[in-house]
Amino acid sequence: MCGIVGYVGERSALEVVMGGLRRLEYRGYDSGGVALIHEGTISSAKKAGKLLNLDAELKANPIADGTTGIGHTRWATHGAPNDRNAHPHLDSTGRIAVVHNGIIENFAALRAELEAAGHEMVSETDTETVAHLLHDELESTDDLAEAVRSVCRRLRGAFTLVICDAQRPDIVIGARRNSPLVVGRGKGENFLGSDVAAFIEYTRDAIELGQDQVVTITRDDVVVTDFFGEPAETKEYHVDWDVSAAEKGGFDWFMLKEIDEQPQAVADTLLGRHSIDGLLQLDEMRLSDDELREVDKVIVVAAGTSFYAAMVAKYAIEHWTRIPCEVELASEFRYRDPILDRSTLVVTISQSGETMDTLMAIRYARQQRARVLSICNTNGSTIPRESDAVIYTHAGPEVAVASTKGFLAQVTACYLLALYFAQIKGVKYGDEIASIIGELEKTPTGIQRMLDEADQVRKLAAELSGSRSILFLGRHVGYPVALEGALKLKELAYIHAEGFAAGELKHGPIAVIEEGLPVFVIVPPRGRDQLQEKTVSNIQEIRARGARTIVLAEDGDDDVVPYSDHLIRLPRVPTLLQPLVATVPLQIFASEFASQLGHDVDQPRNLAKSVTVE
Ligand code: G6P
Repeated sequence: MCGIVGYVGERSALEVVMGGLRRLEYRGYDSGGVALIHEGTISSAKKAGKLLNLDAELKANPIADGTTGIGHTRWATHGAPNDRNAHPHLDSTGRIAVVHNGIIENFAALRAELEAAGHEMVSETDTETVAHLLHDELESTDDLAEAVRSVCRRLRGAFTLVICDAQRPDIVIGARRNSPLVVGRGKGENFLGSDVAAFIEYTRDAIELGQDQVVTITRDDVVVTDFFGEPAETKEYHVDWDVSAAEKGGFDWFMLKEIDEQPQAVADTLLGRHSIDGLLQLDEMRLSDDELREVDKVIVVAAGTSFYAAMVAKYAIEHWTRIPCEVELASEFRYRDPILDRSTLVVTISQSGETMDTLMAIRYARQQRARVLSICNTNGSTIPRESDAVIYTHAGPEVAVASTKGFLAQVTACYLLALYFAQIKGVKYGDEIASIIGELEKTPTGIQRMLDEADQVRKLAAELSGSRSILFLGRHVGYPVALEGALKLKELAYIHAEGFAAGELKHGPIAVIEEGLPVFVIVPPRGRDQLQEKTVSNIQEIRARGARTIVLAEDGDDDVVPYSDHLIRLPRVPTLLQPLVATVPLQIFASEFASQLGHDVDQPRNLAKSVTVE
């Protein structure tokens, strides 16, 4: 939520900052802006709307370039998304420029204090107060970092700040509390970014910053302290993907590229999880087997699409390990007074590793002495750093706002976690675990098949693109798939879409079925548990009431044929693994549907990929 870039070096700061903003635009696209230091003054440009508008503004009214600069792409919180509220914000002398991600909770009091002292605010933002506070601090010190620390000590809430000062042309300062900021280390140049995508074109060497830290970058140096000026510990890491992973690579949209990368994302998440003796190993675990054996309850906490991965996790964990498992929305978790103790394992799932609701759930859980294990896709992000253990998904950078490969990789990691528990608790024999892993290892081929057969789904999306409402039904793990299918369509196509547990429909929602209403139904594989038969009955019930049925069923399931207006075949997989193949056509359907309507598939309205406010 909001993308931030800072640069000091020898290149054109405008080029570096704009390039970084383009790769961070998924974090927010309400406005964009840059500030550069040129011969002792700040040159700045900002524009409401997507970065294309800022590009046009810079073309129409070029600004003086420099070798030090900062930039921002916004997801609006305080103040409407207009030019005036766009970042960077300057102090009244135009000497200090500030960009910010987060919410400064005590900004109203600070603003009142500044106005009483004669400062004139030109925007409605909380950010502008920081520029004015810094101006005042710099009256009594020459040390910009010290001035930033002093201001940070006065701020409450969540903030990443990146600041430059026209009088100090070769320095950029960053500060962070609760919102993300990483450092990119170059040769004769250094970078700041909300995440490594900001500078991946120039360096893959990064430094993770901790909570309440201030960083000063110059061409040759990176100095990190806490808010009181004490030297702070940081962690260096090397990014295992390069700039090509953050580019569209010939696809019209990032989302299409990311859907296409799913076989690889699942395969990479499974990679290297076997020890020589055939046992499953999760090498990023910082919890010992003994600690995990103590676990008598698991609570999986997440937001958005990741929450649906959490729902799948519940089925897998309970079925394979017999450990009771609850699932909770991150934004609700800490407010309902959950029962937690040392033997509770809280598992959080987050693609970005920055979602504030999820981060707050982690802090709450740890305060209650629960252990926290995170499933996360982003190395160097806050959530893994604050957890007791991490399983990284290896999906590579996900840029499109609507998550696709991130989700499939999360579901894969959930299976691995459940199987690992089964192994250490001894509730499954080694060969049973190996056989499930074997099935999992086959799923990338099944996912590839769904991609190869996508044309029928695209055609269907074109045919249905006039629909204003579409339902999705599923049972068992097909239920979270239905919810995810509906969410994708809401996010991208802005139409009414809802997912239901197929068996629940008759208890109310069936009343909304009317002639011609498209309804997707995910049919579980045939098996001992009658799930498939019950779902086929549900299809008959809705079809009898006029629904147009789009049925996803495994190869060879002929029971569904008479009741399917459209039939999408799925490869045969064990019931629990079906989300890995069944989700794919729903993602393709939503992206094509949105394209048909002329929407921006990668950057849907009102959304941001990484939501760093509660
Ligand atoms: C936002 C995004 C969703 C995402 C959710 C959770 O709302 O728009 O696509 O699923 O955050 O994100 P996380 O990074 O924690 O998985």
